[in-house]
Amino acid sequence: MALTALGIGAIIGAGIFVAIGSAISGDPGHLGAGPAIVVSILLAGVTSTLAALNYSEFAALIPIAGSAYTYAYATLGELVAWIIGWDLILEYAVGNIAVAVGWAGYFDSFLRGLGIHLPAWLVTDTLTGLSSPAVLASAPHLGSMPIIFCAPALVIVALITVVLVIGVQESSWVNTLMVGIKLAVILLFLAVGLVAIHPHQWVTPSFAPHGFAGISVGAAIIFFAYIGFDAVSTASEEAKNPQRDIPIGIIASLIICTVLFVAIALVLTGLIPWNQLDVADPLNVALRYIHANWAAGFVSLGAVAAMTSVLLVFQLGQARIFMSMARDGLLPPWAAKVHPRFRTPHVTTIVTGVVVALGAAFIPIGVVLELTNIGTLFAFVLVALGIIVLRRTDPDRPRPFRTPWVPFLPLVSVAFCLYLMLSLPLVTKLRFVVWLLIGAVIYFGYGRRHSRVRALADPLGRR
Ligand code: ALA
Repeated sequence: MALTALGIGAIIGAGIFVAIGSAISGDPGHLGAGPAIVVSILLAGVTSTLAALNYSEFAALIPIAGSAYTYAYATLGELVAWIIGWDLILEYAVGNIAVAVGWAGYFDSFLRGLGIHLPAWLVTDTLTGLSSPAVLASAPHLGSMPIIFCAPALVIVALITVVLVIGVQESSWVNTLMVGIKLAVILLFLAVGLVAIHPHQWVTPSFAPHGFAGISVGAAIIFFAYIGFDAVSTASEEAKNPQRDIPIGIIASLIICTVLFVAIALVLTGLIPWNQLDVADPLNVALRYIHANWAAGFVSLGAVAAMTSVLLVFQLGQARIFMSMARDGLLPPWAAKVHPRFRTPHVTTIVTGVVVALGAAFIPIGVVLELTNIGTLFAFVLVALGIIVLRRTDPDRPRPFRTPWVPFLPLVSVAFCLYLMLSLPLVTKLRFVVWLLIGAVIYFGYGRRHSRVRALADPLGRR
């Protein structure tokens, strides 16, 4: 139960509360799925479930806290481990930029419900604001420079960073409480919405207005909603019986979330015309559309709580991954420092906090969300290949949980991930390639020469 709750705690956040809007309606950068978002959700769900089987095999095989980075180091060697570690920055830190912006959207709509209106220049990211005449007109100036940034996103990340540096007593009951709040507001949304849906909206003008192309892009966007189930594997050291409990926790949280996501999608597209959802707070907008303003207020508050717990999990995870990479010598030793009093990896926590806070203040959510998705899908590809490789190179190692039909299922997993990656806009693919190239420069310029493992492997110390 606690592990499943951990999974749900990391999974339900900006994806289902925010990204679902542009996945349905589309935005200037991509087509929308329309009411066929349900099919997109299932497609993204199958992709995640296949990846979850691979994560489960690794988590049971190498039950130490870590993530794809640790698995890769143990099985595929240092270069692949570096690529995954570098790539995971997209899943964790860049993903959290998206979650923080999503948090700000619902925070703003919650305040509006209370009659408090923050000025547009204070709740819009810089890049979006600079291209919006209305926001520009409202902005104060410093000299000739307009001041526009998303202040709530910056502040929440700063607060979370402080909490993590001081150290949270990660108790599972706090997480269970957060999960309870998430589930409660989702059930509220479903209950209030269910009685007001107009089924004809599911087929107006058609179920899939942009055909399979729209469904595929929708799947590639809504995939964000599933990211986080791998967080369960990071708890394997604390699980009583990791071999059995981790796979169950991962797969149970995925199934529960898929059922909830499908229900939310059906109600959402039944409440409001599909092309009106490219907004920062689609669930709130849909409830207001049917004049259920009180419920909209509760849903906004619940969404804020839900995204806070996602932010915590990923900020914590990112700092730990940086620390592991620094311990292995792939990042400078200062990144592995632990605070003398608080016993937390304060350096990496603060660096992550500053980068995520600034990113969330300046960058539009769509850009970071798509980059997160492509990076995470790529990590899933490498993990799937890792399963196949390790079955060959180390066939006799006891595997408490075995991915079925290896190599067939991991290859299907790779195919699904690649399909979703290819469905993302061209500009996202280009940004991703640039990201990997920057990573390659850092590895060959620093990590390769400082690697601990490489130094140990060569007793003469040649590098
Ligand atoms: N799945 C997480 C979210 O939707 C990342 O916020």
